[in-house]
Amino acid sequence: MKSYDPAHVVTDEDLKRLFEVVIRTPSSFNLQHWRFLAVRDAELKNAIMGAAWGQKHLGEASVDVVVCGKLGAHEDAARIWAEAGEDVAGKMVPMIQGFYGKNAALQRDEAIRSGSLAAMTLMLVAEDMGLSTCPMIGFDPARVSEILGIPSDHVPVMIVTLGKGTSAARPSGRLPVDEVVRLDQFDGPGLA
Ligand SMILES: Cc1cc2nc3c(=O)[nH]c(=O)nc-3n(C[C@H](O)[C@H](O)[C@H](O)COP(=O)(O)O)c2cc1C
Repeated sequence: MKSYDPAHVVTDEDLKRLFEVVIRTPSSFNLQHWRFLAVRDAELKNAIMGAAWGQKHLGEASVDVVVCGKLGAHEDAARIWAEAGEDVAGKMVPMIQGFYGKNAALQRDEAIRSGSLAAMTLMLVAEDMGLSTCPMIGFDPARVSEILGIPSDHVPVMIVTLGKGTSAARPSGRLPVDEVVRLDQFDGPGLA
């Protein structure tokens, strides 16, 4: 949704209800790379809008949720896996360190992958709560990081506007299933 009622208030209680579900999103090794900044302050929303080529829905929405991804989430493995018991944690934690520890590209991919899945959950749950959203990457991540104090070991994954939509969604077609689904091989047949 690209236009919102700027007077609508999304309360802390609404956000808690929303995020209690969002944090159930799956993530690789359950590392939960996501961190969320729920920006309601009008000045900050306007500053974000300024870092996003003036896209007005960022100023109008009740909340701009900046989804961040933690690059070093693999370092949280011991804490996350502690509840599985020493036997399991003793195997999982070194495996996770080995998988991500020296691979900066994979750390970044995973932070973006987990953050993106969480953003999708957020959008589905928000819709269920009668709210509208728009996922956005049309912003300058360095400027948004500066405005919100996002440290360099976290990557801004996406911003999701959240609020009371005020217009019908724009028509938006999709490529046909025939074109985007193949059986077994990339050059395999489509569905019958
Ligand atoms: C990763 C991603 C980035 C997007 N960035 C923007 C954006 O910066 N501004 C915007 O207005 N919409 C943005 N969109 C929304 C898309 O334009 C929209 O989802 C697409 O056109 C399909 O429309 P629909 O979601 O209404 O069906 C983005 C969507 C995704 C998934």
